[in-house]
Amino acid sequence: MEAYNSFSSQWRFVFVLGLLFFLANAANAVVQHHDFVIQATKVKRLCKTHNAITVNGQFPGPTLEINNGDTLEVKVTNKARYNVTVHWHGVRQMRTAWADGPEFITQCPIRPGQSYTYRFTVQGQEGTLWWHAHSSWLRATVYGALIIHPRIGDSYPFPKPKRETPILMGEWWDANPIDVIREATRTGAAPNVSDAYTINGQPGDLYKCSSKDTVIVPVSSGETSLLRVINSALNQQLFFTVANHKLTIVGADASYVKPFTTKVLMLGPGQTTDVLIKADQPPARYYMAARAYASAQGAPFDNTTTTAILEYKTPTCTSKNCGTTTPVMPPLPAFNDTATATAFTTSFKSPKQVPVPTKIDENLFITVGLGLNKCPPGARARNCQGPNGTRFSASMNNNTFSLPSNTSILKAYYDKIPGVFTTDFPKVPPVKFDYTGNVSRSLWQPSPGTKVYKLKYGSTVQVVLQGTSIFTAENHPIHLHGYDFYIVAEGFGNFNPKTDTSKFNLVDPPLRNTASVPVKGWAVIRFVADNPGVWIMHCHLDVHIGWGLAMTFVVENGVGESQSLEKPPPDFPKC
Ligand code: C2O
Repeated sequence: MEAYNSFSSQWRFVFVLGLLFFLANAANAVVQHHDFVIQATKVKRLCKTHNAITVNGQFPGPTLEINNGDTLEVKVTNKARYNVTVHWHGVRQMRTAWADGPEFITQCPIRPGQSYTYRFTVQGQEGTLWWHAHSSWLRATVYGALIIHPRIGDSYPFPKPKRETPILMGEWWDANPIDVIREATRTGAAPNVSDAYTINGQPGDLYKCSSKDTVIVPVSSGETSLLRVINSALNQQLFFTVANHKLTIVGADASYVKPFTTKVLMLGPGQTTDVLIKADQPPARYYMAARAYASAQGAPFDNTTTTAILEYKTPTCTSKNCGTTTPVMPPLPAFNDTATATAFTTSFKSPKQVPVPTKIDENLFITVGLGLNKCPPGARARNCQGPNGTRFSASMNNNTFSLPSNTSILKAYYDKIPGVFTTDFPKVPPVKFDYTGNVSRSLWQPSPGTKVYKLKYGSTVQVVLQGTSIFTAENHPIHLHGYDFYIVAEGFGNFNPKTDTSKFNLVDPPLRNTASVPVKGWAVIRFVADNPGVWIMHCHLDVHIGWGLAMTFVVENGVGESQSLEKPPPDFPKC
């Protein structure tokens, strides 16, 4: 009796302690409210002023900083002349697909004059994410960082850096980006490439009319800084490096990774990388620089280089006497340096063993690549200015994804509105071929459709993402909404289940939301479908989304409220 009593009181003590801990944590979690006003703002770059669409007149937009567990409530008011939506890139949006943001997938756009409040909780993710418009090409200027610190009382799995700096790499057109994409949609040709890359909105010293505004990142000798590098460019994978400094990678896509050091990073649009950099060099000014990793042979690309300056603040080098010294310029990989890109992307591992699903319920094989559509009957030559009088196109498993135009797939699914989408997205390509070889022209033309793939709640999913050489092969940054996935392997050529499966890392693969599918190669991802809703998976090169390089998963509800999609919010935009 005695022993039993003390046992139960011990457990009561543990229970009360647990409850207190839970309450303390719940009390720590806050709801942050923000107002985002989408508006045209005069922004001068490359000697010319444009009416850029911004959030609150800021370019890049405001940085949001929260703690793991916090709730964000962002009221977006559209005072611009375009429809807009905002996507919280990488946020899992558990049960809150209504707040995810992709236009016509989860919501109808916020019309000019209207507003919509995105409300969601960030849970179990730490590091760097970002937000961006998910409507036409508005994200060229409508984007910003979303930084998730550990819960109050928790710490980083590395010594706390002295300073933290978001490094948003962007892409600037000396034109209205919406006009650029509209023109390309009309002609069927590829849109004009950008005129500059930017770091935190500034092109830097190597462009005209730009050097007086070059971004300065201050550091102090001996101190370690955390750079939160984000590729927010529209259409270009980028190499990033800092002169003379070693870079230690500690996180990516808001998950920690096993630290490794490198001289150069390669990020596809959508990806983020957290980097520790120690100011261990002679006090001076060093360039950080980014330029294209252009994997498509022969395709035009913006070959310029953006820079910012890492500036040592020491008694011997204040901004006064160091401000005039020419910064040290780092070497950058060649534009087509796939070996460097691959060495980087294959270095990622989770910090420790992770629960990778091993029994797979849904095994999909999805081709990703371009296509060319024959000029439709009756169309004019001026609308068919792609290669050989075609129109550019793209597909997954030969399906060119077309968005619905007067409702979202999520709303149609929730309200059971028929005729908006079909559930026949194929789990393998309709025709097997030598995907990365010389593809027969008869296979170049995909067909359009709004096809989704249904997943049961809790099913384990593997997707082999297979690049194709249709028209041209290139690296595709494939992003899945609503999920993080494990990248268990990547490689070149055609995926071969017999020989490649044995190379899977099922122990400590990285957890990410965007995978770089190698040029003429493949990547394999795995996830558990534990988030009900409608989730688009697409290439994060915006030019490819427009061409249809996308598909959508519909994940059904599980059992009970905690496994079910919430109700749509009261101010959910109407079409
Ligand atoms: Cu950051 Cu659907 O994208």
